[in-house]
Amino acid sequence: MSGADRAIDFAVIGGTGLYRLAELEGVETHAVETPWGTPSAPVRVGGFGPHRIAFLARHGEGHAVPPHRINYRANLWALKSLGATRVVAVNSVGGITEAWGPRVIGVPDQLIDYTHGRAVSLWDGEGEALHVDFGEPYTPALRRALLAAAAAAGVPVVDGGCYGATQGPRLETKAEIERLRRDGCDLVGMTGMPEAALARELGLDYACLAIVANWAAGRAPEDEVITLEDVLANMAAATEPLPRLLRALAF
Ligand code: HPA
Repeated sequence: MSGADRAIDFAVIGGTGLYRLAELEGVETHAVETPWGTPSAPVRVGGFGPHRIAFLARHGEGHAVPPHRINYRANLWALKSLGATRVVAVNSVGGITEAWGPRVIGVPDQLIDYTHGRAVSLWDGEGEALHVDFGEPYTPALRRALLAAAAAAGVPVVDGGCYGATQGPRLETKAEIERLRRDGCDLVGMTGMPEAALARELGLDYACLAIVANWAAGRAPEDEVITLEDVLANMAAATEPLPRLLRALAF
């Protein structure tokens, strides 16, 4: 099989710093309309190493869509409608606990949702209320596949951690981060939810590759001043090995 006949092995939702995958070959562009409206960007489907994948830029290809305005339902629906069954979510985050310093890549295994006012379900009053099991918010088998791919590709990653999903678009106060730390969060980002829960409602396997851009508010070592240039340099350095890691995914 080749090209459009082949199934999509996995989808990638690219976050801040990952607006496209340069290595995608023979790209087909799908401008999908969904019952929930228009996704953040067209979905690009193409060959990627041994895989056929779908790529979607969560914030739009020009980073125009802020975290609280992302149409998470349309994004996930679009990927599913194209035949994706697995979603690797790449999320830029701030680090809270020691293991999660700038430039770290990690695969969290838990999350706490602090977002509000977002469309959190595909079941909005029609049909039966659906209470999906969400004890393990990230699909364990897909997490394991990501960890194995990282090992095979020689990319160091942190295995496990709790993602605190905040509302944004502003960054957090030091007190808010201190509260997240007390709650058990290791990392903080603005786009992890409701994406993970919607993926579960749609029956999609879903796992997160978190890329640490900065120490969260109040967590940097005392003498460290974080500049925007530092954050951009951290993101560029930390996303550099991602294509290698993703190519090594095997199911
Ligand atoms: N807080 C929330 N989201 C983020 C951060 C942060 O410090 N860094 C990157 N995304």
